[in-house]
Amino acid sequence: MHMFFGGKGLFGLDIGSSCIKAVQLREKRGGYELEFFETFQLPPELIVDGSIIDSIRLVEALKQFIKKARIRTKNVAIGLAGHTSVIIKRISLPEMSEEELEESIKFEAEQYVPFDIEDVNVDFQILGPKEEPGQMDVMLAAVKKDVVNEYVSVVREAGLRPVVVDVDAFALSNMHEINYDIEPGRNIALVNVGAHTINLNVVKNGMSVFTRDSSIGASGVTEALQKEFHLSYEISERLQRGEAVENVSPRAPSR
Ligand SMILES: Nc1ncnc2c1ncn2[C@@H]1O[C@H](COP(=O)(O)OP(=O)(O)OP(=O)(O)O)[C@@H](O)[C@H]1O
Ligand SMILES: [Mg+2]
Repeated sequence: MHMFFGGKGLFGLDIGSSCIKAVQLREKRGGYELEFFETFQLPPELIVDGSIIDSIRLVEALKQFIKKARIRTKNVAIGLAGHTSVIIKRISLPEMSEEELEESIKFEAEQYVPFDIEDVNVDFQILGPKEEPGQMDVMLAAVKKDVVNEYVSVVREAGLRPVVVDVDAFALSNMHEINYDIEPGRNIALVNVGAHTINLNVVKNGMSVFTRDSSIGASGVTEALQKEFHLSYEISERLQRGEAVENVSPRAPSR
C-alpha cells in the first residue's frame, strides 16, 4: 500500500476528531528516531463520523497548529480511517501478475465494496499464494473519493502538500513491523483507541490478517462524564485525563 516512511522533508499528520498529531521521523541505522511530535486539541464536532463537517474551522486549527509547532516542512502524509469511508479486506483471487490485477482490480473489488466502485479509490497488495493451487491472497483497500478529497483539500488549504494518503490501520501495522520482531505463527492484535474510532488490525507472520474500524471510542467516556457531573466538554476531557476539576475527583469514591 502507500508506505513511504521517513524520507527527507516529510511529516506525518494524523487528523483525529479530537486531536491533531504531527510526527517526524529520522531514518537511522537499523530503524527510525523520533525527531518531532506535537499535538493540538480540536474543538468538538469539526469531524463527525470520519467526515469533515466544518472545514473552515479545521483549516484554521491546522494553520494555528503549524504555526505553534513551528512546522516548516510542507510535504505531509495523512491517514484515513472509519467504517463509513474505508474498506479493507483480505480476499482470495485466481493467481495473476501485479500488472494483470492492476487491470482487473476494479472489477474484482466490486463485489467486496458496499459503495459504487466509481466512487472509491482502490489499491491492493498481493500477499502471496494460498494453499489451494491457483489462488492467491490479496489485501484490498478502498477509500471513498469524496472523503479523500475532503481531507486533501483541507490539508492544501492549510498550506501543506499532501504526498501520501494511507489508511490508519496500515500505519498501525507499519509501526509494529518496524518496532517488533515477527513471532512466527502468533496472532497479534494492534488496537488504536481514538475519540470516535477504534482501529483494529490483527497481524500474523508480519502480515495483516484482519482489519476493522469501529465507530466506538473514548468520547463515549467524555460524554458520560459530561452528563453525570454536568460538565463542559473541555472540563470532562481534563477529568478523564486524571485532573481534579470543579470539585470532582478523578478517583472513584472509597467505600
Ligand atoms: N489519559 C487518558 N485517559 C482516558 N482517556 C483519554 C486519556 N487521554 C485521552 N483520552 C481520550 O482519548 C481520546 C483522544 O484520543 P485520540 O487523540 O487518539 O483521538 P482522535 O485521534 O482525535 O480520535 P479519532 O481517531 O477517533 O477521530 C479522547 O476521547 C480523550 O478523552
Ligand atoms: Mg485517531
